[in-house]
Amino acid sequence: MTTVVAVDGPAGSGKSSVSKAAARRLGFAYLDTGAAYRALAWHVAASGADASHASSVIDALESFDYSIGTDPDGYAVHVGGTDVTAAIREPRVSSVVSLIARVPEVRAHLTALFRSIIASTDRPGIIVEGRDITTVVAPDATVRILLTASEEARMARRSAELAGEKPADVGEQLKKRDQADSKVVDFMTAAEGVTTVDSTELDVEQTIQAVLDVITNSAAAR
Ligand code: DC
Repeated sequence: MTTVVAVDGPAGSGKSSVSKAAARRLGFAYLDTGAAYRALAWHVAASGADASHASSVIDALESFDYSIGTDPDGYAVHVGGTDVTAAIREPRVSSVVSLIARVPEVRAHLTALFRSIIASTDRPGIIVEGRDITTVVAPDATVRILLTASEEARMARRSAELAGEKPADVGEQLKKRDQADSKVVDFMTAAEGVTTVDSTELDVEQTIQAVLDVITNSAAAR
């Protein structure tokens, strides 16, 4: 049986790098669900639609030809044959992605897509990270983790990632996005049965180890 590991958390919690590294070490597949929301935001912008109009976003969904790799070593995101792996990280995508993520039709469509990717993995396990994986996409996952960190720690990490931008701007953007996203799904509190890993005082290696420990212990307890 495939081991499904669900990891939720806010921006800057270290979710993506930690989940990817843990998947690599375990020989598991890795699914970044935020990348799918970002790819759709990119597609909406590229097709000239207004991301703040739910009906335009739903129309764009019909022509959303999306594929994402699940190999933690060679993961790439494509929309209609265009490699958008780098473009989906640009501020113009980050600034509108919350608008499309709040549309219920978008969430239903992407949730179904994530479930089919999870069901078709050919590896012994898959680590799936996002905001609603422990609660909506895979509430029956083998292991469910909420990765958190204090707001200060998250802002400092984001500033380091986006070197060149003013720390105050980075902090403002992060806060705004968390506020918008948390209206749609609660990813700040652990649902019942979800293990919290607080990475505030941990470096990346210690966080990977903490996540691997939870996976090993939870999988052994099942
Ligand atoms: O993790 P990220 O920053 O790449 O996520 C991009 C956006 O997608 C974020 O604003 C919240 C949204 N998202 C979501 O609503 N549900 C998920 N499972 C993953 C991401």
